[in-house]
Amino acid sequence: MRIDIITIFPGLFGPYINESIIKRAQQKKKVVIKVHDLRDFTEDKHKKVDDRPFGGGPGMVMSAQPIFDAVKKIKGKRAVRVIVTCPSGNVLNQKIAKNLAKCKNIIIICGHYEGIDERVRDKVAQEAISIGDYVLTGGELAALVLVDSVTRLLPGVLGKAESLKDESFEQNLLEYPQYTRPANFRGIKVPNVLLSGNHSLIEKWRKEQAVIRTKKYRPDLLLKKTNQCC
Ligand code: ADE
Repeated sequence: MRIDIITIFPGLFGPYINESIIKRAQQKKKVVIKVHDLRDFTEDKHKKVDDRPFGGGPGMVMSAQPIFDAVKKIKGKRAVRVIVTCPSGNVLNQKIAKNLAKCKNIIIICGHYEGIDERVRDKVAQEAISIGDYVLTGGELAALVLVDSVTRLLPGVLGKAESLKDESFEQNLLEYPQYTRPANFRGIKVPNVLLSGNHSLIEKWRKEQAVIRTKKYRPDLLLKKTNQCC
């Protein structure tokens, strides 16, 4: 997969994408991530990429021209899924991440200021994605969340030890509680069943705990049809 990110803050990405699993995924050539400075594409001699909103109102709106031209240049002749990050898009979830992980090419446009000229959403992007019902200072963190959630799903990125099986949101359940050594930490004990060596009992316990936890923290997930991922 190739992911291109268009941003006015290219320096924000390196520290995250060049560490840990995302770094390894790039080294193993499972993903190519390129970060582009939107200002390199503006026709404005002062490198401006925004302007006042038509109709008045506070703040600035990201202009169409640099984004249209950046996407055209970066895309070339490839088929690319173009995504805008902004609070007024579809809220990201595991199902969306899984779908995006099937794409060969993605361009992510990081929103800023009071928003992006709507013509970008209408004519350039296929979708807008939000990472939750809160407003960030910009779309860069959202882009990183997208890159991370998608990259880890690419075949061969996670090792055996980091398996995707049983993690939260599989079958619309949160993951069961995990413990590690020591079995007794300052008097706080690990549930006996986990020490029993009885794998079918352990599996049953984990399933029950996943349901209990989901009921408590995310009852909305239980109302969804199971297996809707993919
Ligand atoms: N930009 C600002 N807030 C955002 C959010 N919640 N999701 C995606 N992009 C954003």
